[in-house]
Amino acid sequence: GDVAVLVPAAGAGVRLGPGAPKALRLLGGEPLLVHAVRRIAAAPSVHTIVVAAPAAELDAVRRLLAPVAPVLVVPGGAERQASVAAALAAVPPGPDIVLVHDAARALTPPELVESVAGAVRAGHHAVIPVLPVVDTIKEVGAGEVVLGTVDRSALRAVQTPQGFRRSVLTAAHAAAGDPLTDDAGLVEKQGVPVFCVPGSEYALKVTRPFDLALAEHLLAAGH
Ligand code: CTP
Ligand code: MG
Repeated sequence: GDVAVLVPAAGAGVRLGPGAPKALRLLGGEPLLVHAVRRIAAAPSVHTIVVAAPAAELDAVRRLLAPVAPVLVVPGGAERQASVAAALAAVPPGPDIVLVHDAARALTPPELVESVAGAVRAGHHAVIPVLPVVDTIKEVGAGEVVLGTVDRSALRAVQTPQGFRRSVLTAAHAAAGDPLTDDAGLVEKQGVPVFCVPGSEYALKVTRPFDLALAEHLLAAGH
């Protein structure tokens, strides 16, 4: 494999409600992070996996993942962007393609990892998986009054894994300013074109309790 996958997993999971850090919350009896890493490791292109874990849980995360796949575990930061930067700094020499994949997207199929990596290998410097937006989107101003309706046909909902030529992601993080919620955003600021490939419904991000309930059903159905 020529691919390193960075797994930001250091978030608290505030929107999921009280409990353990989100990556350690259980889905079908196993932590979200275990599900995510198992599926990443099943992608043939993957050579290296670096997990950014909650600083207080480093040993627990190493023990959890030891039977799943060989991984490097580093302490994450206060923002997702800092967690990704910490994981990126720990990638050993070798892999030319770097993917960034949220632990919270626990049921992401290995095929999506392969398709993003393949698009980078084919020459795109930055690749993101996307889905069409299904709801009508409106911009709303003060007092919950609608300002206008956005043209949905031009919008996409963005997932991970996001894939990059390694040098492109390193340069984007070195130049990064205020924290963003995805890595492609940093690359866009560098003027690098970002290419979209089809995402997967199964790559949903477990964010709120409803998402965890949906993921439980999908897992039970064999995903
Ligand atoms: N993440 C991280 N370091 C942070 C914040 C987030 O590594 N300081 C990771 C999360 O663990 C998650 C991914 O980034 O896998 C996407 O973030 P999000 O869904 O927002 O997770 P949380 O930040 O944990 O959730 P919340 O915002 O509800 O607290
Ligand atoms: Mg968050």
